[in-house]
Amino acid sequence: MLTPNMKSLNLIICYIFLIIESSAADTGTTIIFTTLGRSRYAFDIFTLPIDAAGEELQLTDGNSVNFNGHFINQTLIVNPTVADPLPIHLLYVTERNGSSSIYIDSVSYPGRNPVRKRSVLETESTRTQHRLVGGSGGRISMKDRPSLVGDDLLIYVSTNEETGVGRTSWAAVYSTQLSTGLTRRLTPKGVADFSPAVSPSGLWTAVASSGENGWGGEVDELSTDIYVFLTQNGAGRVKVVEHGGWPSWGDDSTIYFHRRGDDGWWSIYAAILPQNMPFAVDSVVTRRITPPGLHSFTPAASLTKKNIIVVATRRPDSDYRHIEIYDIASGKFQELTRLVAPRAHHYNPFISPDSLWVGYHRCRGAGNNGKKIKHDLFLENLKTEKPDISLFRIDGSYPSFSRDGNRITYVGLPGLFVANSDGSGNREIASGISAFSTAWDPNRKGVIYTSIGPTFASEDTRVDIYSVEVDADEPLFTKLTTGGQNNAFPSVSPDGKWVVFRSGRSGHKNLYIMNAVHGEKGGLTQLTNGPWSDTMCNWSPDGDWIAFASDRHSPGSGSFALYMIHPNGTGLRNLIHSGSAGRTNHPWFSPDGTHIVFTSDYAGVSAEPISNPHHYQPYGDIFTMKLDGSELTRLTHNAYEDGTPTWGPRFITPKNVEWSIDVKKCSFEDCHWLAITNRLDTAKIQCGG
Ligand SMILES: *[C@@H]1O[C@H](CO)[C@@H](O)[C@H](O)[C@H]1NC(C)=O
Ligand SMILES: *[C@@H]1O[C@H](CO)[C@@H](O)[C@H](O)[C@H]1NC(C)=O
Ligand SMILES: *[C@@H]1O[C@H](CO)[C@@H](O)[C@H](O)[C@H]1NC(C)=O
Repeated sequence: MLTPNMKSLNLIICYIFLIIESSAADTGTTIIFTTLGRSRYAFDIFTLPIDAAGEELQLTDGNSVNFNGHFINQTLIVNPTVADPLPIHLLYVTERNGSSSIYIDSVSYPGRNPVRKRSVLETESTRTQHRLVGGSGGRISMKDRPSLVGDDLLIYVSTNEETGVGRTSWAAVYSTQLSTGLTRRLTPKGVADFSPAVSPSGLWTAVASSGENGWGGEVDELSTDIYVFLTQNGAGRVKVVEHGGWPSWGDDSTIYFHRRGDDGWWSIYAAILPQNMPFAVDSVVTRRITPPGLHSFTPAASLTKKNIIVVATRRPDSDYRHIEIYDIASGKFQELTRLVAPRAHHYNPFISPDSLWVGYHRCRGAGNNGKKIKHDLFLENLKTEKPDISLFRIDGSYPSFSRDGNRITYVGLPGLFVANSDGSGNREIASGISAFSTAWDPNRKGVIYTSIGPTFASEDTRVDIYSVEVDADEPLFTKLTTGGQNNAFPSVSPDGKWVVFRSGRSGHKNLYIMNAVHGEKGGLTQLTNGPWSDTMCNWSPDGDWIAFASDRHSPGSGSFALYMIHPNGTGLRNLIHSGSAGRTNHPWFSPDGTHIVFTSDYAGVSAEPISNPHHYQPYGDIFTMKLDGSELTRLTHNAYEDGTPTWGPRFITPKNVEWSIDVKKCSFEDCHWLAITNRLDTAKIQCGG
């Protein structure tokens, strides 16, 4: 059934990872970190007939997280439920192999009566593997927003190349010729491009670009402009729209895009380009397409029905993000996904070339007759470029290892847990407790430290540090601090005698050291002192240093950098500061004390945040660095908030660890700035309040 054109599609896809050397088990170490919300994502790509007269089909296989789909141009879908239909060819991003990869799946129905089984919906045999950018060097990077020109040129975003400048995004658009593997960077150096869209003819690619100004730390709406360049080689690059993102082509001279308007509502706009390139931004006519009163964003244009665009919306009367069709001529919305899965967020619509089917991703099972998700990952293995480091995302926060690396403790926000580091023996110590930050005593068996109270609170908030004997029949909590003035982030000296922590007792958050067994009463000294915030401290394995995060270079600004100080208060120095206003937090020493792992906005954002569920700090990625500032290495490449890393002395076998827990899956939040409270703020702005 394949046309000649389609055959070379079968050449394609996906990124091959280096196999971790088994010898690493002897000398290697393990880093575990948290990604806000991500462990509970379960995205699959679905499609609905555009007239909503038909059932929703799940296109991807329910494995891992699958998102940002794209129907391949040549695929006229016809009706996939009739006998012998043409298969649907779907291009999408998957994280099943420990970092993002691009796949093409062929999906078809076997007969007149559709059988909705995963094994039938998806034909795995048409999927072959191909190296994309960085493949031959074994580099790990993000791959996102794929589309295909003709049947051979894949266009996508990757974070493959480091910029060398702190606090700038590594996101750039690349093309890979699938028949030859020839890869080309289309984004100029020194610039970040997001959300590429190829024009119907394939000639042009439009992107949301940071331009020369880079990234100023914004999260709600990236300050991007829309640029157009030749798909073939990136030449002829020209700015066509000031202030806009997520371009989608209606025809070769019409680009739809989103922006947050002056009235506060995200809306779709159209830009009409002059027929003759090149041209300047002032020869482009833009107009607003969707009305105020609801948020409309992430548009996808139809190639055959000029009056129709498909958008994601957040309506004032809904807590969920849904896909709707907007008729430009009549100004009417037609709801699509709310009729099928009302209580689930739906993301980033795309439309088939024949305009008969609308695709999107959402959480499988969610809002769809309450189907349960069978598997959940307690520890999700991520690939690294360092064969001696095993890297895991934990379904929890603030993990830390016991001295021998055989056990971990972590918090559930709420809940305090311990487990063996192979994932077995996982149990909650005290149910529902609002603990955050953990440390394991180096000598006393089964003793951990944690702080109990609210996170991100003011100096005088009641937060205290406790030691906890976790193996006692009834876990024994010993309160070590007394004043309750935001005492948190305990870290123990390697001899087990002292605990360094931060406290707000002076009116500012500074570092203190107390007796590990008897707490403050057994001895207390103030380590740092000043009208700023010192926090998130970690004691080095040789006992000589304490690393911490501080805003002392710019108190109250929100900018944090990493510093080191000797426990006797001498030797203060800056370890890393990301850009002039950057945020770097949660330092943790390597077991041999030569490196630290931390989270930072050093590599900016990697995607338009509005295209993802809510992340407070979507710029957070995990990095390691030598203590002298050299060997800065990015370990995570994604558009999520990665944080609270810890570094343990054993090399844990790099494979996923599943667990079954009784929690509500897919209950993550949509972007806060789309929420109802924001709408009220917007109303205030409109009234001049
Ligand atoms: C990717 O993950 C799947 C399981 O989801 C596995 O079958 C496949 O071998 C993996 N591929 C690579 C290249 O690691
Ligand atoms: C889409 O398909 C049409 C018709 O085959 C072709 O003319 C056009 O160049 C294709 N566009 C892209 C982006 O591949
Ligand atoms: C402070 O401690 C460091 C190492 O922990 C040591 O090298 C230094 O001599 C000490 N300084 C003082 C004044 O005690």
